[in-house]
Amino acid sequence: MAKEKVVLAYSGGLDTSVIIRWLIEEKDLDVIAMVGDVGQQRQDLEYIRQKAIDIGALECLVVDMREEFVNEFLTKALAANALYENKYPLVSALSRPILVKHLVKTAEEYQAQYVAHGCTGKGNDQVRFEIGIVTLNPELKVLAPVREWDLLTREQEMEWAAARGIPVPTTVDEPYSIDDNIWGRTIECGILEDPWVEPPEDIYELTQPPNMGPDLPQYVELGFNAGVPCSLDGKQMSFHDIIIELNEIGGRHGYGRIDMLENRLVGLKSREIYETPGALALIEAHKALEDMTLERDLLHYKLSVEHVWATQVYYGQWYSPLKQALDAFIASTQTAVTGEVRLKFHKGTCLTVGRRSDFSLYDYGLATYGEADSFDRTAAKGFIDIFGLAVKTWARQQLKLDI
Ligand code: ARG
Repeated sequence: MAKEKVVLAYSGGLDTSVIIRWLIEEKDLDVIAMVGDVGQQRQDLEYIRQKAIDIGALECLVVDMREEFVNEFLTKALAANALYENKYPLVSALSRPILVKHLVKTAEEYQAQYVAHGCTGKGNDQVRFEIGIVTLNPELKVLAPVREWDLLTREQEMEWAAARGIPVPTTVDEPYSIDDNIWGRTIECGILEDPWVEPPEDIYELTQPPNMGPDLPQYVELGFNAGVPCSLDGKQMSFHDIIIELNEIGGRHGYGRIDMLENRLVGLKSREIYETPGALALIEAHKALEDMTLERDLLHYKLSVEHVWATQVYYGQWYSPLKQALDAFIASTQTAVTGEVRLKFHKGTCLTVGRRSDFSLYDYGLATYGEADSFDRTAAKGFIDIFGLAVKTWARQQLKLDI
């Protein structure tokens, strides 16, 4: 009888390599490994693919998800100016749902009953994988081997692997847990677990120390079309290429580091370091253009929606009905977010120093104190009388109570 099948989210690292063999030996399953390229730094993909096959996977699919990641996921995140707890641009939280989408699709194509991932039992990523998988296909069953091994030491895991001919790292283990994709890089664990300790300089790869940035500032002009970045310094470019370029420019100027103590969904606080120069610069510029093009009440309301959106996505709810409804609202706000923003990078900072748009709601005549002033001051007094009436009435009442 044919064996049941499992599709595994495979990275090529030790954990997911060991999982391939474990699923075969312990669960008697045929394993289809899937590697998603979301722009992370990684070993040669052909090497990773061959490694999975050598360990015993039936197949290893390498899927280039970069374009879809930018167009479907990062476009929505930028439209939402998405920052969890007002700081973290959701780097890992955004890549999990695209992996989930392809895992589920592959499971359906191969008629697999199971999907497996290599997340630990303490983080957010396990929740994102599992909630995403069951939302897209409630019939699929999820296996989380690392959660079952949580009591194994790294040495025991390496012994188990070595005994089966699975390549194990010869170098001393990386002291940090790192995840990355086009939208940035996340670093946790090791010495960073002491929230009082300043992060050592060697954890950073995308950003210079802020004081080591060039002495001269650099100006960058970003163009947006309906909320989507479309040009850099006047040159038409894809959103993908703009992110890559801004990661480089921002990183060189020491911009984009975040040191934060964040609330994980599973209830604990953890210390996390991020480097996300491109994402933060784009959110800064996008917000600046919204300030100019969104009507006041819409802008204010959108701020509260953005907060809910970021929390939903952090909590693994990318495919939830609430998140989808929020997407529809946010998309409807973006039609006029077209124009240019001028950013200035210098010694760890990125400031908006100019913005313009054909859909600008900034009216010079209304705003100026100069000769062109067209604001009707005579209407101000009546406006204030009526607007202040409720609190004035209340204040009178207070006077009586105070006696
Ligand atoms: N704390 C971040 C988040 O939950 C980063 C997680 C990184 N994941 C990892 N396996 N290192 O989105």
